[in-house]
Amino acid sequence: MEDKQSNNEDILTNRQGHPVTDNQNVRTVGNRGPTTLENYDFLEKISHFDRERIPERVVHARGAGAHGYFQSYGTFGDDPISKYTRAKVFTDKDKQTPVFIRFSTVVHGGHSPETLRDPRGFAVKFYTEDGNWDLVGNNLKVFFIRDPLKFPDLVHAFKPDPVTNLQDGERIFDFISQTPEAMQMITFLFSPWGIPANYRNMQGSGVHAYRWVNEEGKAVLVKYHFEPKQGIKNLTQQEADEIQGKNFNHATQDLYEAIEQGDYPEWELFVQIMSDDDHPELDFDPLDPTKLWYKDEFPWVPVGKLILNKNPENYFAEVEQVAFGTGVLVDGLDFSDDKLLQGRTFSYSDTQRYRVGTNYLKLPINAPKKHVATNQRGGQMEFEVDKGEKQNPHVNYEPSIIGGLKEAKQSGKDHTPYVEGEVKREKIDRENNFGQAGETYRRFSDWERNELILNLVNTLKPCRKEIQDQMVEYFTKCDEDYGRRVKEGLSSEEHSPMETHRGPIGSTETEQAVQNAKKM
Ligand code: HEM
Repeated sequence: MEDKQSNNEDILTNRQGHPVTDNQNVRTVGNRGPTTLENYDFLEKISHFDRERIPERVVHARGAGAHGYFQSYGTFGDDPISKYTRAKVFTDKDKQTPVFIRFSTVVHGGHSPETLRDPRGFAVKFYTEDGNWDLVGNNLKVFFIRDPLKFPDLVHAFKPDPVTNLQDGERIFDFISQTPEAMQMITFLFSPWGIPANYRNMQGSGVHAYRWVNEEGKAVLVKYHFEPKQGIKNLTQQEADEIQGKNFNHATQDLYEAIEQGDYPEWELFVQIMSDDDHPELDFDPLDPTKLWYKDEFPWVPVGKLILNKNPENYFAEVEQVAFGTGVLVDGLDFSDDKLLQGRTFSYSDTQRYRVGTNYLKLPINAPKKHVATNQRGGQMEFEVDKGEKQNPHVNYEPSIIGGLKEAKQSGKDHTPYVEGEVKREKIDRENNFGQAGETYRRFSDWERNELILNLVNTLKPCRKEIQDQMVEYFTKCDEDYGRRVKEGLSSEEHSPMETHRGPIGSTETEQAVQNAKKM
């Protein structure tokens, strides 16, 4: 006879399916204790609780996520997009591809305030019919460094001091004053662009040059940018301080509530294109992630739209365990030779095997929404073996004449770039560390420049003189006015490190930010 109680969906059980009859009292000798060790329900409950956390992401620990879809336009300007890429996520007009997105801040831990001056992560997983494609980008369109060997040092300088556990502007600028390639990123970061108002009102960028490959195996260089339909909105330091005093979760809350209310955020995806060569006519290297490709020379061409329309059902299962990587590309989308991109590509799956576990790609949030058939077996938390309908369960190797999985057919010609050169450790030729940073400074509007100077002066003021001098030298190389204003701010008694200042607030400011975005 069926046990009615154990099949009742309301009944609390332990993980073994045993009904729990007392969830208030541990088993004890008498009602005052001592407790007994064979108390399986209690041990199971507490030991699972003891393991509830997995390691935080080493960077981008604080985040919010949502589901949605990407809809392609199928064209690139007047051409069918297939002229440049054979990736089906783009070529099939009006095709809707499911996506999961995770926005994040970078430096601090999982519950840190969302008002901090920090780049914002903008990572998108496209569950395409050819398998998953991840575009792991940021809100800002450039990065601090161009060599992946420097990444752990960059992050250590921005993270809290290993002795005091305090974030320290002197450690940050000690590193930055020896890293001139960071000047454009620093110029954006210390301006209002360093504190987006929330996740819905910010851009997203792939930052790196990638490649698109067409049916004939021909490649072009591309950069990806998401533009929010909601408009761009950035905060002054004072506005951010005010929000933080009342709500340190404002960006997560804004995203969650908008989606719950059916006010679905939307971005248009734009792509810039360059021929796949080293472009000696430019004063920078097209593969350098510290540089913008200016819009007037390399227009932003709309290729599709991204809409977020569903909140996660469980934060941990989806937002915490989602795993993005720059190596996760599909047919028709390829790497470029950008060294930083290639360094990142090792780092993501490496950290995820540690952070989530060997079988992290089997979790529903990470698994492709299509048939998967590998010969991988085992590993911690293996719970299901890939099986094709015709697959012989004894054959978990390839090639085989008695069964097993077969190689897929190539869908177009391989792109086979020719590479030669001496193997060496060397900087790139066209560093041009200051030119674009100066141009960015000049393209800002007045209130953005004022904020930039104020934020830099406030952070640099407590630093030692050698660091200040080196930074002023860099700012001057970017733009004389830029250097002069920081220098004056540092020698003036007016600014104290704690002092803040209110810039113009409201719609004019937002309008200006949007106009400026159009220029970059
Ligand atoms: C997260 C490494 C540069 C955007 C991460 C994580 C690592 C990492 C280890 C944690 C991943 C996880 O635990 O799942 C690196 C290295 C870089 C680099 C080694 C340079 C060599 C960049 C750049 C961008 C970027 C240039 C933007 C274009 C992100 C984003 C996340 C992230 C958005 C969070 C992904 C998520 O929401 O799960 N990075 N990163 N990173 N990184 Fe990077």
